[in-house]
Amino acid sequence: MNLLSKPTDKRSQRKNEHVQHALNQSLQTAPSDFDGVHFIHQSLPSFNLDDVNLSADLGPFRLDLPLYINAMTGGSEWTRSINGKLAAVAEATGIPMAVGSMHAAIKQPELSDSFTIARETNPNGLLFANVGADVSMEGAKTAVDLLKADALQIHINAPQELIMPEGDRNFKAWRDNIQQIAEEIDMPVIVKEVGFGMSKETLQILKNIGIKYTDVSGKGGTNFATIENSRRKNQEMSYMDNWGISTVTSLLETKPFQHDMHILASGGVRTPLDAMKCLALGARAVGMSKMMLEQVEHSGVEAAIEFVDQFHHQMKKIAVITNAKNIEELRNRPIVLSPELISWQQQRSMEQQGRF
Ligand SMILES: Cc1cc2nc3c(=O)[nH]c(=O)nc-3n(C[C@H](O)[C@H](O)[C@H](O)COP(=O)(O)O)c2cc1C
Repeated sequence: MNLLSKPTDKRSQRKNEHVQHALNQSLQTAPSDFDGVHFIHQSLPSFNLDDVNLSADLGPFRLDLPLYINAMTGGSEWTRSINGKLAAVAEATGIPMAVGSMHAAIKQPELSDSFTIARETNPNGLLFANVGADVSMEGAKTAVDLLKADALQIHINAPQELIMPEGDRNFKAWRDNIQQIAEEIDMPVIVKEVGFGMSKETLQILKNIGIKYTDVSGKGGTNFATIENSRRKNQEMSYMDNWGISTVTSLLETKPFQHDMHILASGGVRTPLDAMKCLALGARAVGMSKMMLEQVEHSGVEAAIEFVDQFHHQMKKIAVITNAKNIEELRNRPIVLSPELISWQQQRSMEQQGRF
């Protein structure tokens, strides 16, 4: 029997549950920290829409669009099909794509094709493998080789593990393990959160162990505290639903590290305006998970391709009215932050980042 369809396989079952719960999570209508970041409207742009170029450098990679599909799926029949659809969107639009955690394929090679379908569908695209921080060196190498990956994402997800009844309880080996893998694997290693954001203390540790790429993946979008609580019988830890650091505040926390690290932003990016705010706050590129999942599952591949094209086009329109032709200029355009964000900076003894 093909394990892909075996309903008793716990890991496959869990991945399907995560996808189902994520799809059921309504797009956050609660106020987002993105709403506390304001560009200053410029009435007399000095260039035309066609002059805007939002291409970005991410280490060795040149991205025509500063967007990527972030890690989600693989490890089951259903998520094999999702990876195939996401890869078709990545291929058509030229944006990078990360697959979901590959531990399923590392432990059960029969499940590999639920990930490698992304490489088959998009043979020349930028693909990121994804593993957890407890992965063995051999496992990390297997994941990279299977996918013929261009970069490796290592996810750090302590709150999710702790809320998950069957989750990991051992974390102290993560730092050394991440360091050893990053030293050994000869490609960009991106340490990413999963929707809980990153503090400057975490970034300092990552910098100290030689990490050059981080994805802050902040609070405000997919919420794994809520998802794991829903999977608990009595939802005992629902009071943790608001745990984490928003994507905007995480980006503020990255400020002292932006010269030494490539910062990626994801988590609750709802609109092209949110994405432009991430870039203005120092992100090199902007990732979306749930939005892309919804697109391919509810609207289909063609609609998802159109969604990405329109998203990019609208980012360019916003560039015009901030009078920034490219990302470098955008980083120097004036922004005003809400009193809450200013207070965050003050309490965290951070350099003020409103630009006037
Ligand atoms: C269904 C689903 C599965 C996910 N699985 C993974 C995973 O396997 N590995 C990982 O690093 N992140 C995983 N994530 C987290 C995303 O990569 C991302 O960090 C998070 O969802 C925040 O982005 P969003 O608000 O755009 O969804 C998953 C997200 C979703 C929605």
